[in-house]
Amino acid sequence: MRFLVLYGTTEGQTRKIADFVTTKLKDRGDIVAMIDAADVPWDMRPQDYDAAILAGSLHAGVYQTPLIHFARKHHEALNNMPTAFLSVSLSAGRKDAEDLRGMTACADRFQKDSGWKPSEVHHVAGAFRFAEYDFFKHWMMKVIAWERGMKTAGVVELELTDWDALRHIVGSFHERAAAAPKHAA
Ligand SMILES: Cc1cc2nc3c(=O)[nH]c(=O)nc-3n(C[C@H](O)[C@H](O)[C@H](O)COP(=O)(O)O)c2cc1C
Repeated sequence: MRFLVLYGTTEGQTRKIADFVTTKLKDRGDIVAMIDAADVPWDMRPQDYDAAILAGSLHAGVYQTPLIHFARKHHEALNNMPTAFLSVSLSAGRKDAEDLRGMTACADRFQKDSGWKPSEVHHVAGAFRFAEYDFFKHWMMKVIAWERGMKTAGVVELELTDWDALRHIVGSFHERAAAAPKHAA
């Protein structure tokens, strides 16, 4: 199958996640185009693929602007094929109901704003990447980590992504996409 894996990232964790997804699909024999939403070729069409996985990360409740633009521009084609949305956040690494409600509301708003209705939405825990933050973000993120009881002294990165769970998500989506009726290009 031909898969599109398109991602938006700010500090790099969603690129790492997209890379992992791409590797797992290729391991299954799929042909995969992995594309940064900030660098989409002008002639790229989702309908040239059998299925698509889009991924973006939350910053102050919103995803990357190029990802929103892409989903808005191509929502009709995307709605006509098997698609999955990976919403990357720190809330996804938490278990409490308020975090769950918040990240669900962000993903719902993205769908409403773009018109894209993903076949499935998955919340994937991201990472603290202290080396990528400016002075203010660095301290803000240190405080957030400290509030969660995490030790950050001398730590450059704290990764919360559950790679086993993600492997399972990719495998299940591959099976569902393979079983879906083929769309007209
Ligand atoms: C300035 C800033 C704002 C953030 N806002 C949110 C947020 O609103 N909700 C959330 O769950 N995570 C939030 N995060 C955490 C990021 O979603 C998380 O670090 C993710 O791994 C970033 O992915 P990226 O490296 O691909 O950009 C924020 C992180 C930063 C640095």
